[in-house]
Amino acid sequence: MSILVWIVIAYVLGSVPFGLVIAKTLCNIDPRTDGSRNIGATNIARLCGLKYGIATLVLDISKGLVPVLMASSWIESDLGLSLVVLAAILGHIFSCFMHFKGGKAVATTVGAFLAVSFWGTLLSAAMCLTVVALSGHVSMGSLTLALALPVFMLLTGNAAFVPVALVVMVLLFWRHKENIRRLARGEENPWLKPRV
Ligand code: G3P
Repeated sequence: MSILVWIVIAYVLGSVPFGLVIAKTLCNIDPRTDGSRNIGATNIARLCGLKYGIATLVLDISKGLVPVLMASSWIESDLGLSLVVLAAILGHIFSCFMHFKGGKAVATTVGAFLAVSFWGTLLSAAMCLTVVALSGHVSMGSLTLALALPVFMLLTGNAAFVPVALVVMVLLFWRHKENIRRLARGEENPWLKPRV
C-alpha cells in the first residue's frame, strides 16, 4: 500500500474521539463543555472517574500505535513513516468526526511514537509521569513529554524521527496554550478534580 493510503488510515483512526464517545455514552457528560473542555483521558478521568480515563488513555494510545505499527511493515522510508505518525496525531487534533476540532493529542503521540522508537518514547513517558507525580499537573507532564521526545529520539539512535518530534512538540505546546496560561497564573486544574 502506498504511503498516502497509510496517511489516510492513520488520520481517520486518529480522528476517532474515544474520550467523547466514552463520556457521552457511559456517563452522559459532554467533555467539550465540562472540566478543561478537552476530550482527553485527563478530563474524562476528572469528569467520569479513573476507569473511564484509563479506558480513554488506552484507546487513544492504541489509535496512534496501531496504524503506525502496521504501516511500518509496508513503508521503509523514515520520512514516510514520520508522515504517518503526524497524520495520526493531526487526526486527534483536527478530527474529521468533530468538524475538524479535537483534543491535545498527548496519548496519541505516545502511541504513534512507540511504534517508531519504543525506548525513546518509553523514556519520554517516564519523564512525563515523574513530572505529573511531582507537580500534580498532567499538563506539565505532557509539556515535558513534548520536550523530551526529540531529545530521546536522538539519544536512542532514532535521529530520523527528530524532525517529526519537533513538529509535534510545537503542536502540543500550541494545544496546551490555555494550560500554560493557567500554570503561569497558578490556576491549573489538578488532575481528577473538576474546575469550578
Ligand atoms: O493530555 C492533556 C493534558 O496534558 C491536560 O489535560 O484536561 O488538564 O487540559 P487537561
